[in-house]
This record gives sequence, structure tokens and C-alpha cells, in this order.
Amino acid sequence: MRYVTDDPYGDEQLVHLYDLDNPPGDDHAYYRSLAEGTTKVIDFGCGTGLLTRSLVAPGRAVIGIDPSPTMLGYARRQPGAEAVTWIDGDHHVVEPSGDADLVVSSGNTMMHVAEHQASVTALAAALRPGGMFAFESRNPAARAWEQWTSDATYGERDTAAGHLKEWLELIEIAGGRVVFDAHNVFPDGHDAVYRNVLYFRTAEEITADLRQAGFTGVTIESGWHGEPPTADAPMLVVRATK
Ligand SMILES: C[S@@+](CC[C@H](N)C(=O)[O-])C[C@H]1O[C@@H](n2cnc3c(N)ncnc32)[C@H](O)[C@@H]1O
Repeated sequence: MRYVTDDPYGDEQLVHLYDLDNPPGDDHAYYRSLAEGTTKVIDFGCGTGLLTRSLVAPGRAVIGIDPSPTMLGYARRQPGAEAVTWIDGDHHVVEPSGDADLVVSSGNTMMHVAEHQASVTALAAALRPGGMFAFESRNPAARAWEQWTSDATYGERDTAAGHLKEWLELIEIAGGRVVFDAHNVFPDGHDAVYRNVLYFRTAEEITADLRQAGFTGVTIESGWHGEPPTADAPMLVVRATK
């Protein structure tokens, strides 16, 4: 076993599998519907850019931001990538332009963000008055990490890079901060381990940070089709208006 990099998305072979493992679904359709009629959209933590590229439309500027060189490198090489402005980095590189209509952050990206308050404040500064920030986050009340045992997550499959054995190992849970290692054994036998840190934030914690950042209207649902929030719904689907 060996740790590869601090970036849990730092492996070229695994990044090539990311879109296969995370195909577009109701989540992408939801974020695309929010983009209707907009002229400037930012995808924060855009990863491989699958959603980002699908947001491109005539008369609309689309910006994808991500701190992982591997993820963003992959995004830049995909067909249609030239229609997007890709920016390496986290909230520090968000321009406080005050003219974006929409910021989306899909795939639970905000759960990777340690500096949540600073990040939502930077994103608010990029939006015009009335602009919207939309993202989803796992609800801590549903305690998803309890399913992340080595046994429950163990799998084997054939990939373009050969036979892959993979599993998760829970390392630490402290408050809403959950640390786990993703193990990946390719045919050469070494176990490439990527450490992940996810922040599970309650609806109340998210709302408080958004309000402090200057968002006035905050709506939280529990699905992609306007499902009402419930105490232990697995997902928090958040829309905040500046
Ligand atoms: C699960 S992936 C989601 C990628 C993409 N949004 C999607 O829907 O497929 C999480 C992404 O968040 C990015 N990320 C990690 N920390 C971040 C931060 N502080 N700010 C912005 N993005 C971050 C990672 O590099 C990774 O690409």
C-alpha cells in the first residue's frame, strides 16, 4: 500500500474511469435547467467537465474551476472543451466580477471544501444581484459513512487499464468531518491509496454560511424534482439567491 498524492483525484487511470462511474443523470438535467436563459455560468469544482461542457450554449459564457490538475487536464482534452474557460484552483481564483447569473457545484463538490465560508463568500462575489448558487451535499443525518466499510464497498472490475480491485476504508469521523481511504489495486499489484476528506454539513450550517456570505433566499430540497426536505433525507439540494 502506498499513498500517491494529496489529491484524491490525482490518478490519470482513475480519472479516465470517473465519467463512466458518474454518468449524467437527473442531477445534470437539473443543473442545466437552472442555466436556461443565463449568459454567464460558473461550474465550481467542475472535475472532468462533463456537466460543464453540456452547459455551453449560444451567447453563454461557461467557466469551469477545479484545483485538481488531473481532473482539469482531462476536462481540457475532451471534445468541445474549447468552448469553456478552464481555471485551475479553488475559491482563491474566483473573480469577484459580480456578473455571473449562476454558479453550480455538482457531484457533492462542496463536501470536499474545507474553507466553506470563504468559498461561498467568493462565489457570492462572482454573482450578480439576483444570481443563484446551486449545489448538493449529503445530509449528515442519513449517516452515509456507515455504509463505507471495506466489506460493503469491495469490488472488482475490468477497466481499460486492466483488472481493478477497489474498496473504501473509513479512517476517522469527527463531527461532520469524515476521512476515508480509497484503495485501488491495478494488475501490477500495488495498492494506490487516495485519502479523501468530506465535510458533512447540516442544512442549518449550510444556510448560516450562505446567509453570512450575503445570500438572502435559501431553498433546500431533498431531490432533483423539488422533493420536500425531510430530517433524514440522504441528499440536500441547495439553491441560494444573492
Ligand atoms: C466528486 S468530484 C465532482 C466533480 C464534478 N463537479 C462532477 O459533478 O462530476 C469533486 C471535485 O471537487 C474538486 N475540489 C476539491 N476541493 C475543492 C475546493 N476546495 N474547491 C473547489 N473544488 C474542489 C475536486 O478536485 C473534484 O474535481
